[in-house]
Formats: sequence, structure tokens, C-alpha cells
Amino acid sequence: MTAKEILERAIKIERTAAEIYRILYERFKGDKIGEVLFFAMARDEEWHAAFIETEMKMMETFPHAFGEAGQDSSVLLDTLNRMEVLKSFIIENPVSLEKAVSTALEIEEEVVEKRYMELLEILSPSLKKIFSELVEMSISEHVWRLETAAKKLGLKKNT
Ligand SMILES: [Fe+2]
Repeated sequence: MTAKEILERAIKIERTAAEIYRILYERFKGDKIGEVLFFAMARDEEWHAAFIETEMKMMETFPHAFGEAGQDSSVLLDTLNRMEVLKSFIIENPVSLEKAVSTALEIEEEVVEKRYMELLEILSPSLKKIFSELVEMSISEHVWRLETAAKKLGLKKNT
């Protein structure tokens, strides 16, 4: 699998997350916590996808800086599949705000962040840098945002 293919998959993951959060934003429009939270989450995920796209453009300009990723094609496939399952679940079910927030926490921590962290162990340095920035953004913005909302809703963290 080339570096470009891995990044294309990551963009798809970020865009699917954005879609999920846009659906939740529509669902919780008018709710004091939900509307603001999911608008910000959707916007951030679009920004993450745009960030990866920018890195891909750099890669086209300076291909030697990136090189071959050398990973098999299963990289991030489980994450993408899991995101699609969660998206269908959210489309098909009337979820409560509590359930929406805990699903978003699951996406950020279990589905995306954990897998990106695993990738950090196996990727080439240039790709590693991209994913470590994505993990950093996810922890500093998303998990913080969701945990603040969870606290307001009186949700307990299930770790
Ligand atoms: Fe993201």
C-alpha cells in the first residue's frame, strides 16, 4: 500500500466522521449542548480531512520525502468499516443525546485515535508526523469537547 493510499483512506475516515457529526447536528438542532457540540465536531473533522489533503499535495510536490509506506492493504480498513456501521446505526435509530455523545467518544477514542496510535509504530517518519498531528488534534480538541459535554449531561466515562 502506498503512502498516498493510506492517506486517502484516512481522508475517507475523517469525512465519514464529519458526516456522522453533521447528521447528529441536524438531529440535535435547538438543543443547547448538542447543537454547538456537533457543529464544532463536524467542522473539525472537515478540517482534519483538509489537513491530510494538504499533506497529500506536499507529497505530490516532494515525493521523495514520503516514499513507500510498505504496509499491507488492511491498514485502517477496520476503522473505516466500523465508522460505516456507526453511521448506519445513527441514521436508522433515534439516538438520545447521551447515546450520541458516548458514540462520538467511542469514535474518537476507540475507533480512530487508538488505530492512528498503532499506526505511529509502523509508518515511515513522514507519515508518522501526519498521524501524530491528527492524534494530537483529536485529543486536544475532540475528546476534551466531548468529555465536557458528557460531564454536563452527567455521563460517566466507561473506562
Ligand atoms: Fe478527526
